Amino acid sequence: MIKVKKRRVLLLPGDGIGPEVIAEVKKVINWFNDKKSLDFEIEEDLVGGISFDKHGTPLTDEVFYKALESAVIMLGAVGGPKWDGVEFSKKPERALLKLRKELKLFANLRPAICFEQLVNASTLKPEIVSGLDILIVRELTGGVYFGEPRGIKPIENGERKGVNTHTYTSSEIIRVARVAFDLAKKRSNRVISCEKSNVMEAGQLWKEEVQSLHDKDYKDVELSHMLADNCAMQLVRNPKQFDVILTDNLFGDMLSDEASMLTGSLGLLPSASLGAKNKDGEMRAMYEPIHGSAPDIAGKGVANPIASILSFAMALRYSLDLDKEAEALEKAVQEALNDGLRTKDIMSDKMKEVSTSQMGDAIISKLQ
Ligand code: IPM
Ligand code: MG
Repeated sequence: MIKVKKRRVLLLPGDGIGPEVIAEVKKVINWFNDKKSLDFEIEEDLVGGISFDKHGTPLTDEVFYKALESAVIMLGAVGGPKWDGVEFSKKPERALLKLRKELKLFANLRPAICFEQLVNASTLKPEIVSGLDILIVRELTGGVYFGEPRGIKPIENGERKGVNTHTYTSSEIIRVARVAFDLAKKRSNRVISCEKSNVMEAGQLWKEEVQSLHDKDYKDVELSHMLADNCAMQLVRNPKQFDVILTDNLFGDMLSDEASMLTGSLGLLPSASLGAKNKDGEMRAMYEPIHGSAPDIAGKGVANPIASILSFAMALRYSLDLDKEAEALEKAVQEALNDGLRTKDIMSDKMKEVSTSQMGDAIISKLQ
């Protein structure tokens, strides 16, 4: 069993704008090391398309072992049209999925928070999104993403058949539901669990297991169930009815993209993927911005580093037990926004447009 090095932070910038935004995270980590005498040990390596180009695989064994040893992995983004033609098993995304699965990062936390400064950036009316604060807890290592059998195979008449399998076991459902209930207790104490129990047996099991865990251990948390399609609709109709949304891997993928746009700005949203704590209290975790690799703007210095920096704030809170530092970093981001600084993606009238590194520097100057 490979031990987790408590202070080891592995930076995996990846593709597209990944390297630009993770460079700003690196500055923040170095600031904490220099100014707050925190002893983070930074490692950096390749993942995704850039790793495929150099090594012929999106995730080398060496990087995978580094990931196993690190308490915190900060991932930028993977993928881009450059690798569209690459064989399925070598696609940049496979690296991400392997890290999630092999590190057993089953709980994916995706907050969708509408920043007051950016209420007008949403395509929804300000009164619908102002004050929005939703947390999506997405199951990340099961469901149709990983179920077997899978593949494409020839069948009769020269046709082919594509197969993926959606499966969940009781324990897979219960462990992620526990995370959602525990987090709800620190928020508004409400969980809405989403599945398609009307058409899928795995959805019916999901609903039953969540309900019985609730009745056994979390009676004090308000629980309701919602069909995932209805949830998609309710998210744009009245998003503030939600506190914690608990859902499976595929529905969570879609609902979190939808929820992120309520906030007007994909460039601001962080995420955390957490594993279970072992008996020594150690936990593996990976943090990444919700936005993708955005190849169209890569290399131009216009990407928004806030989602990555806020992802590091989540790392401070969830992996490193540094709540005060996490709050300080989140506050520094707010202050930079209050000063009217905006990267291109969130630029609006009368604000000052800044580059990726200028935004990073401004946030660091607010930390002082
Ligand atoms: C996400 C992404 C990934 C997913 C892709 C890049 C594999 O969309 O993290 O939401 O589908 O999980
Ligand atoms: Mg997605």
